[in-house]
Amino acid sequence: MERLKKEKQGRTELMWWPSKECKKRAFVKSKKIYEEAGKNPIKFWENAAKELVWFKKWNKAFLFEPPHFKWFVGGKINISYNCLERNLEKRKDKIALIWEPEPINEKTRYLSYYELFREVNKFANALKELGVKKKDVVGIYMPMIPETIIAMLASARIGAIHTVVFSAFSPEALRIRLKETNAKVLITADGYYRKGSVINLKKYADEGVRKTDVEKVVVVKRIGKKLRLRRREHFFNELIEGQKEYCKPEAMNSEDILFILFTSGSTGKPKGVIHVCGGYTVQAYLTTKYIFNLLDDDIFWSTADIGWITGHTYSCYGPLLNGATFVLYEGALDYPKADRWQQMIKKHRVTVFYTAPTAIRMFEKEVAKVKEKLDSLKIIASVGEPINEEAWLWFFKEVGKERCPLLDTYWQTETGGILITSLPGVGPFKPTFAGLPFPGVKVSILDEKGNECKANEKGNLVVLPPFPPGMLRGIYKNEKKYRETYFSKFGNKIYFTSDIAYKDEKGLIRIVGRSDDVIKVAAHRLSTGELENIVEKDKRVSECAVVGIPDKIKGQVIAVFVVTKTKEKIKKEEINEILVKGIGKIAKPKFVFFVSELPKTRSGKIMRRILRNLLTKQPLGDISTLQNPRCVEEIKKVIS
Ligand code: PRX
Repeated sequence: MERLKKEKQGRTELMWWPSKECKKRAFVKSKKIYEEAGKNPIKFWENAAKELVWFKKWNKAFLFEPPHFKWFVGGKINISYNCLERNLEKRKDKIALIWEPEPINEKTRYLSYYELFREVNKFANALKELGVKKKDVVGIYMPMIPETIIAMLASARIGAIHTVVFSAFSPEALRIRLKETNAKVLITADGYYRKGSVINLKKYADEGVRKTDVEKVVVVKRIGKKLRLRRREHFFNELIEGQKEYCKPEAMNSEDILFILFTSGSTGKPKGVIHVCGGYTVQAYLTTKYIFNLLDDDIFWSTADIGWITGHTYSCYGPLLNGATFVLYEGALDYPKADRWQQMIKKHRVTVFYTAPTAIRMFEKEVAKVKEKLDSLKIIASVGEPINEEAWLWFFKEVGKERCPLLDTYWQTETGGILITSLPGVGPFKPTFAGLPFPGVKVSILDEKGNECKANEKGNLVVLPPFPPGMLRGIYKNEKKYRETYFSKFGNKIYFTSDIAYKDEKGLIRIVGRSDDVIKVAAHRLSTGELENIVEKDKRVSECAVVGIPDKIKGQVIAVFVVTKTKEKIKKEEINEILVKGIGKIAKPKFVFFVSELPKTRSGKIMRRILRNLLTKQPLGDISTLQNPRCVEEIKKVIS
């Protein structure tokens, strides 16, 4: 197979262009699309929307009432219909979903479009029987199994709103999300496998539903544990038995809520990001089509967990909207051996592989040279955090063998779908640069005063109207937070991403990192404020500060500085436990330090920058605003 074309820019910079083969397969072959879409982005997105099935066409494509906006106003649609029925005519027997369990002795499951359609319909009827109505909230606390996809599609089918909670989140984190949304039903599983161990999910779910409004719990038997159910609990398999194989999809208004997904902001409480039925469907559909370029012979594998936005858009809705076959994997990418991910690519002849820099760096650490040919691969892609040059080049050379376009895709929970990336048939592919904004997406990089930055000048990445249709429509029950977080820094007509970025001379965008207190641990988004709140709830703690510091594999790791109350004692292990209980294992800190004071400004704000710089041995920078400079010496001693 052909290699990509290499271009040397200057002395050290490299980039690649698509080969003839890549272009031949690509939906988008020329960069003209950017210009055309740029001239009339609304029309561009309307044309994409027309490729889907609408029960009623919209009468206004884009409506802007800053900071709110609507797309496809007056239109009626159902995403489950577009994922299922829309594919039945041509792809009834095509495999929609390949499910790979973690234990290697267990059988792979294959579900055709028709089988998925039937299961979704039966479960939709079952949900109705449980009393779930349009606009009710359904909590989904599930591992990576087919029933999770079925549950999401079934609730979307009947017009319920789903809120998926990452299965590795703690019961406490689950409870907060169920309470905030007043979820009526929770769908969970008896357990799942992770790195060879059984995770007893039902136990966590039991704890998590306590003191919430959940009236019914549905339990999928994944590991076959013997369980005695309470009155309000039902087994998934028993519920769908005897259900009718068809459930009429609800005709949803374009702007009705499809799902709420919680994410971390810079403050203490997680935010429920709202995505709606019309616009999200269109953006999930088109970005998957043009970026991952899924044709009928493709097998798409996105390794993201369903509990995150990448799981929603690219491990469920995007591939199904495109009639594609996708892989859903239950377990760890390095279990039972470090090369499990390679074995999966080989076994399923994966053609498009989408993963995160943290996984790429882990692969690289385990295998400097990839011996397998992995010759089924056509496109490789990365998401979730900046990808460093070394990891980029390793992924490109060792996994993609310099044949596959490497797409660094930038986006957020809030944007619903990818915003910035190179397209596989257009390129270029330049290490550490995400590329150009997707056609029909307008972004800019602004300095603090709101002026556009010049090439190579770092600034604030913003999105300009008309915002892409899949972007969030609000924060659940928190209008203030929506306005403050996204639409205050540069006024109510400009969406602020909280990311810092710059453009090169060609306009290719490189994401540098966040400008707020959000950190990325193994691509998982966490808020330092939220972690601090949890630690500070312990009565022995007077105050604490959390910072993210760079880590070779995980991108960032957590360091906690704790000030205890006079005479109180607390151990490092207890701080670990508090965070694992409050959020989950992903929040376990790498470092815990006990200090008697935190560096603060005169107005009392903790200067996390000082803690970060001390830990990473960087110059402290301007400390003239520091009101207690003596604490620096103590902290230096404690961390040394
Ligand atoms: O900081 C950016 C980083 O991840 C943030 C969004 O995180 P989350 O909502 O969890 O969504 C992740 C998956 C879409 C962004 O604000 N980020 C995401 N993709 C990239 C990235 N940073 C650099 N390069 C990327 N490709």
